[in-house]
Amino acid sequence: MISTDFAPNESWDDAILSLKLLFQPWKWMRGNDIEQVKRKLLSKLLITNNKYRISLFLSGRSALYFLLKSLNLPKGSEVLVQAFTCEAVVLPIVELGMKPIYVDIEADTYSMDYRFLTSKPGNKLTKVLILQHTFGLTPKYRNKILNLTKERKLIVIEDLAHGFNKSIFSPNNQYLISNNFFLLSFGRSKTLSSVFGGAIATPQSTINNLPMPSTWFIFQCLLYKPLTMLIKSTYDIYLGKILHKVLNKLNLLIPEITKKEKKGIYDRLFNKAYPNALAILLLHQLNKFEQIKQQRAKICQIYNQHFPNFILPSSKPASIPKQQSSNFSLIRYPLLTERRDKILVKVNKQNVYLGKWYDEVVAPKDLDQSRVEYEQGSCPNAEKVCKNIINLPTNITEEQAKRVLKILNDVK
Ligand SMILES: Cc1ncc(COP(=O)(O)O)c(C=O)c1O
Repeated sequence: MISTDFAPNESWDDAILSLKLLFQPWKWMRGNDIEQVKRKLLSKLLITNNKYRISLFLSGRSALYFLLKSLNLPKGSEVLVQAFTCEAVVLPIVELGMKPIYVDIEADTYSMDYRFLTSKPGNKLTKVLILQHTFGLTPKYRNKILNLTKERKLIVIEDLAHGFNKSIFSPNNQYLISNNFFLLSFGRSKTLSSVFGGAIATPQSTINNLPMPSTWFIFQCLLYKPLTMLIKSTYDIYLGKILHKVLNKLNLLIPEITKKEKKGIYDRLFNKAYPNALAILLLHQLNKFEQIKQQRAKICQIYNQHFPNFILPSSKPASIPKQQSSNFSLIRYPLLTERRDKILVKVNKQNVYLGKWYDEVVAPKDLDQSRVEYEQGSCPNAEKVCKNIINLPTNITEEQAKRVLKILNDVK
């Protein structure tokens, strides 16, 4: 099985660590590993100026919720957010009585397009801008957007949930000492996975004193890694397929998005502290992060050589800016094609599962769209990309990448 979505970050060493932790419940709640994670994250973000603190949460969405809450903005405040995003970004905004204002994207880095941003007049109620680094690409218009936020005195949250290019944190980066916040996620589909988890980097203050998740929740998180590894490694001989179905039926595979969230309602289940057990899983991933990044970069290069312009034949051109395409490590590799459905059916038959981030302006597709306040037709670029995008996996071996390309080539 080759999959972009299914447990892309897990390997047997993660599974074994998780399995051991299942038998060490005294390590689950509080412990020193949480502080170690904070220190490691700051060094990964290259933040060495002592101006930032890390606060950890049970998910990226709850990290965003508490960050927005801590700003004490008046009800009805507007948050500028790009179209082509997911419920995790929008539901906390709506839950806090704020209004998401959608800005259309450009198709080079799938991020907010400055030109559409300037066409939205400054409004007294507009207080925050969330700048998403989609797939880990630095937004094409990042500098211009950050300058505009300074002019308009907006609070900026850079959403680094998908990853980021280290250069944004170069030591001379003036934004590090301004009123900028950074959002991280350690969900199962992100570049670092502790199944659930999120963080914010804030200037000075931290947010804490949240209750711990239940032991049942932590137990389910710890089960996730060994179970998904079992499924992945036996999928091609059918056992994994059956196992997947059975475990889902028994509710033993904890879902990434809850039923409540699919109804478009923010789930306070995630308004919890980050437990030590997940910090241990995250530390393990942090320790091998450079190696995984290099592997992802290698796979991206293989794809890049195959699709020089990030497209499949018969699709509209899209390209990654040159400076980002040489040494980059994307969480998933985006391609635009008008033959998406045909391709997905064809590859699925060979146990290859490609991703569709995002197939809706506010993903996932089965989310109750009436709750997210998006007006159809208002961001046409994002809508078009949603119809054509597929994502290739990057955390795989070179042989697997070549197999993916071969299968794609064979789609007539
Ligand atoms: C762009 C973006 N930001 C933030 C998040 C929040 O992540 P989490 O799943 O940890 O709540 C996600 C999750 O998918 C995301 O895609």
